[in-house]
Amino acid sequence: MTQGSLLPSLWDDAVAARLDEPGLLLYRSNLLGSDLRITNFGGGNTSAKVAAKDPLTGADVQVLWVKGSGGDIGSMKLDGFATVYMDRLMQLRAQYRDLSQEDAMVQALDHCIFNLNPRAPSIDTWLHAFVPQVHVDHVHSDAVIAIAAAKDQVALTKTVFGDEIGYLPWQRPGIDLGIQLGRLAEENPHLKGAVLGSHGLFTWGATAKECYETTIRIINTAAAWLAANEARPVFGGEKVPALAAQDRKAAARRLMPLIRGRISKAEMKAGHFTDAPEVLDFVNSNALTALAPLGTSCPDHFLRTKIKPLILPADADEPALDALIAGYRADYAAYYDRCKRPNSPALRDPNAVIYLVPGVGMISFAKDKSTARISAEFYLNAINVMRGASGVSTYQGLPEQEAFDIEYWLLEEAKLQRMPKAKPMQGRVAFITGGAGGIGSATADRLLKEGCNVVLADVDQPSLDEVTAGFAKRYGRDMVRGVVMDVTQETQVVAALEQTVQEYGGLDVVVNNAGITSAAAVEDTTLAMWNRTMDILSTGYFLVAREGYRILKAQALGGSMVFVSSKNGVAASPAASAYCTAKAAEIHLARCMALEGAPFGIRVNVVNPDAVLRGSKIWQGEWSQQRAASNKIAVSELEEHYRKRSLLQRSVFPEDIAEGVYFFASDLSAKSTGNFLNVDAGNAVSFTR
Ligand SMILES: NC(=O)c1ccc[n+]([C@@H]2O[C@H](COP(=O)([O-])OP(=O)(O)OC[C@H]3O[C@@H](n4cnc5c(N)ncnc54)[C@H](O)[C@@H]3O)[C@@H](O)[C@H]2O)c1
Ligand SMILES: [Zn+2]
Repeated sequence: MTQGSLLPSLWDDAVAARLDEPGLLLYRSNLLGSDLRITNFGGGNTSAKVAAKDPLTGADVQVLWVKGSGGDIGSMKLDGFATVYMDRLMQLRAQYRDLSQEDAMVQALDHCIFNLNPRAPSIDTWLHAFVPQVHVDHVHSDAVIAIAAAKDQVALTKTVFGDEIGYLPWQRPGIDLGIQLGRLAEENPHLKGAVLGSHGLFTWGATAKECYETTIRIINTAAAWLAANEARPVFGGEKVPALAAQDRKAAARRLMPLIRGRISKAEMKAGHFTDAPEVLDFVNSNALTALAPLGTSCPDHFLRTKIKPLILPADADEPALDALIAGYRADYAAYYDRCKRPNSPALRDPNAVIYLVPGVGMISFAKDKSTARISAEFYLNAINVMRGASGVSTYQGLPEQEAFDIEYWLLEEAKLQRMPKAKPMQGRVAFITGGAGGIGSATADRLLKEGCNVVLADVDQPSLDEVTAGFAKRYGRDMVRGVVMDVTQETQVVAALEQTVQEYGGLDVVVNNAGITSAAAVEDTTLAMWNRTMDILSTGYFLVAREGYRILKAQALGGSMVFVSSKNGVAASPAASAYCTAKAAEIHLARCMALEGAPFGIRVNVVNPDAVLRGSKIWQGEWSQQRAASNKIAVSELEEHYRKRSLLQRSVFPEDIAEGVYFFASDLSAKSTGNFLNVDAGNAVSFTR
């Protein structure tokens, strides 16, 4: 939390007056979750104890509404709350003897569910249930965790909050910690909440508003105190100066594909880069090498970020990267071996998630872009915590065994096992030229559906913006980017692919598709028309393919290039010699690149469409008139003309071409290169031979 910017109370009595108890709980939760200074994404939970009628017996019962497993309090809806019978939770509390029962008690929670609510209660349910107050908030505020992660956390809690906030030392959440918290609240009725060591804040109140305002006030108290007492300069001052902004980005773009190539062998990973000022303060500091290896403190943080980041020098060459990455893996495997228990789940991916580059910023890699971005946000939470704690005391990570027991907790493993199966293109990155057009956008849609990240490149900015925004809405803002680029301009092509790497960490699929048409009898073909056709089609495909190829080769994970050529690349057509020749050049370029790329696992294949009228911008202009004239029919008859001309007597749509591109882009065609696939409803003149 930055100094001087205290959290305002956003509570609106007029809004609250219209809400019932569950509605008030949701209102409070969404308010709390709307500011990352209050709690990290997906972190924290809220509850209220609400009177209800038992659906079976009609008896009056008390039900705990508590944020369930999964989701985020900022965006959750009422269905995000688990509902459990309070009296049954109390019966379990009475039966509890010792820590050996923890996991069995989790199973027992299922027997406490009220009204067949499918939302699973989380492990924090106990901590809410046993606090006697009706309303309870639990948040992971960086400012409070900073105090909870300081070496003298007990004394600091007292100094900062006085008598109104209690303290419990670190313990993994569960029924035992819930009982301790409940007892603390019962025995100290003056308390408004408690700090949990190395973890976060619990606060409570008699009304939803009181609880919410206490949470805000306690966080503000912590933030203001830290700001006033922080030692300067932060993190012991600067050790490495930040590179200039464009050099930071260039360094990230060089490193990202190299890292990605080394950590994506088992599972493809997408990346994220940030050089936010708070990140640079840390990675450039004197304290970096001492603090980073201590690991993150809050369990929520390290489940996303792994305990430790990997520090990389900005100029690390490939052998240096090999050594550093191998060193990290060995260190992680050794940690697993030291801490594992007889029934621990198997060793997970030993690669780092967070890569800190002094002078440059922070790179993160995870199974998909959203996870990589959120992991970076979590590490920023961890940076804030380290800054706060080390600024007023000594920062402490969680003891290694405790961290391991959380990371490899059987319940955590069960959560991972419940995750939906990865889509075939998850974590992969595709670059599509002409992405705003008919075939390009259909191809993007097909790839996005399979979990692929997509960068759409096009000269037509208005169409590009519209198409990109539509996909962002359907597939999520992390999945798609649009970049304005003219395929004939070398510098623009280079820049667009650089941006792709910076956004997603690498590249797997290049779809060369941007195009125009031209039509004229040979003697009427001007040099300008010839050159323009060649520039956009042949040369444009070459420039994009070459830049993509360079990245794929450096990344060393193979890759797939798909060229959208044309029936006209194989079969001659009258009055379109420039277009036909340019399209033939694309096919031959694909073959040459297939040959050169094979040793690196880079496949290059071609899809040949024919007469895709619907959705295509090239069929909206002059081309249609010329084709109609050349066939001696009206423009309105063209679609029917081409359908009848095809062997299968069917029209071809952009989605049909997209299906062919997807086949070559994905592992479905892992053993094909140098091929072409006609998607034209059958046309004997373009049969392969
Ligand atoms: N539609 C068909 O019948 C058909 C048939 C055979 C081949 N093709 C080929 O399919 C590809 C896509 O065609 P479509 O039907 O989707 O057309 P389209 O016009 O709908 O899409 C082409 C896109 O490329 C973009 N573009 C044009 N010049 C560019 C440049 N210099 N730099 C970057 N972007 C540029 C356009 O803005 C447009 O968004 C083209 O290569 C075309 O030759 C189409
Ligand atoms: Zn927590």
